[in-house]
Amino acid sequence: MPWIRRMRVERVRVAPAAVGETMWGRKLLRDCGDRWPKSVLCLLHGCSRGPRLKVGDALSGAASRQEQEVVRVQGWVRSVREQKEIIFLHINDGSSLESLQIVARPNLDFSKISFGSAVEIWGKLVQSTHKKQSTELLADEVRLIGSCNPVDLPFKIKKRHSLEYIRQFPHLRCKTNIFSSLLRIRSGAFAAIHSFFMNNGFVHIHTPIITSNDCEGAGELFQVEPASKSTEKCHHFFDVPSFLTVSGQLHLEVMTGAFTQVYTFGPTFRAENSQTRRHLAEFYMVEAELAFTESLKDIMEVMEHLFKTTTFHILSEYPEDVELFHKYVAPGQKERLEEMLKNPFQVLSYTEAIDVLQRSTETFKFEPKWGCDLQTEHENYLVKHCGNTPVFVINYPYDIKPFYARDNQDRPQHTVAAVDLLVPGIGELCGGSLREERLDLLQSRLKQHDLPNAYRWYEEIRQFGSVPHGGFGLGFERFLQCILGIENIKDVIPFPRFPHSCLL
Ligand code: 4AD
Ligand code: MG
Repeated sequence: MPWIRRMRVERVRVAPAAVGETMWGRKLLRDCGDRWPKSVLCLLHGCSRGPRLKVGDALSGAASRQEQEVVRVQGWVRSVREQKEIIFLHINDGSSLESLQIVARPNLDFSKISFGSAVEIWGKLVQSTHKKQSTELLADEVRLIGSCNPVDLPFKIKKRHSLEYIRQFPHLRCKTNIFSSLLRIRSGAFAAIHSFFMNNGFVHIHTPIITSNDCEGAGELFQVEPASKSTEKCHHFFDVPSFLTVSGQLHLEVMTGAFTQVYTFGPTFRAENSQTRRHLAEFYMVEAELAFTESLKDIMEVMEHLFKTTTFHILSEYPEDVELFHKYVAPGQKERLEEMLKNPFQVLSYTEAIDVLQRSTETFKFEPKWGCDLQTEHENYLVKHCGNTPVFVINYPYDIKPFYARDNQDRPQHTVAAVDLLVPGIGELCGGSLREERLDLLQSRLKQHDLPNAYRWYEEIRQFGSVPHGGFGLGFERFLQCILGIENIKDVIPFPRFPHSCLL
């Protein structure tokens, strides 16, 4: 069959369902009488002894099987229970929260198999008679691939460890239920955010990781230079000082000169010495930029739509994983989230926000004053004041926002068209603004900040078909914290980086 030869050459590693959706896959399926022959399944899965089955597919019944067909499951042992006549194993391969129950006769060699071992099992899937699972695997053969000494493993069988405890083991915590759920959700949320922008006509731009500008102007930069000292005269690798990006915004602004809607989604770096539960030195930011904007409302609509669509997607696609957090980590979070999704987000001006804070009877560590940035305690109070729902705070003082924010030209309280989205339990989730597209105003602002030379190109993009535009950035880790109710940002990223810690 030429199709099969082609697949072999291309070393196809895709699930039969996905193959069946391609043109050549449909033809192959027709040629085979609408049923994948075992030889094809084995070829697709790169195995000579039976198709490899994902635990998640086995449990959900997604894998179409022939009766009596021998399948192969690979994964890690989550539990071993020996009875006189029978041995039960639970195997997990990361494809689902639930593990697959393996039922085996004691004549198979289990002597070296323990909690944590990596195994490969051949057998037949059957309907389970137990209430807890619909399917189980009757094992014909069990092979130990990697042994594990459960005494040395920091996680104990059937024990629920706290997030703080498992955080100490960044090289092992993916083996716990809670962290593997988190990583599945994170991966799904990443894809859902890309889908959101693709479905809404945005073009994805790879903005650079290394850059020579400080977008936020806060000086919280990690400088990039080769590790080995060069003997050349010029002491900078790129001839100019260069840094890890703090934001892709300025590069997105360049792209709004040709595309109406663009976005980027990648790692961002801040050398801020903040040891808080919502700051990291390396975090992921989703940034969108829109041309032809008329007001901040255009930006706020995208923020709200992005938040609601993506959250809804995660709740419906990963119900078991999400439930683990809502049940054991943050009881009540499910209901809070439902309220956030149901109601329109509220809007407060910065001036109104200060007024609310000053009138409150709460004792704040930092006194709320017009002209000062909002502190986390202020943000949390404002969210509560608005009924524990997300709230946009708009029109911040001119003097506390970066050079790019658009001047509202108002007096006596001089503000810019900037917006922060505050959410329950976290505070600031998104920051954005309209950008100053008027050349004269931008030039005088850059002068004030002593920046004109560094930003000639930024001025120049205002000279060739400049349009009103604006955008925002959403902190991906804070977004996950908000959905799942996770206290500490270090628990929503695979390998957290923060002051004094860069493990692995
Ligand atoms: O408010 P920020 O600093 O805004 C910008 O960088 C804009 N240039 C974005 C834009 O308009 N394109 O950062 C945006 C968001 C914050 O609201 C916060 O959620 C997150 O990024 N963030 C952090 N998350 C984790 N750790 C940190 N150190 C963070 N700093 C900001
Ligand atoms: Mg901000």
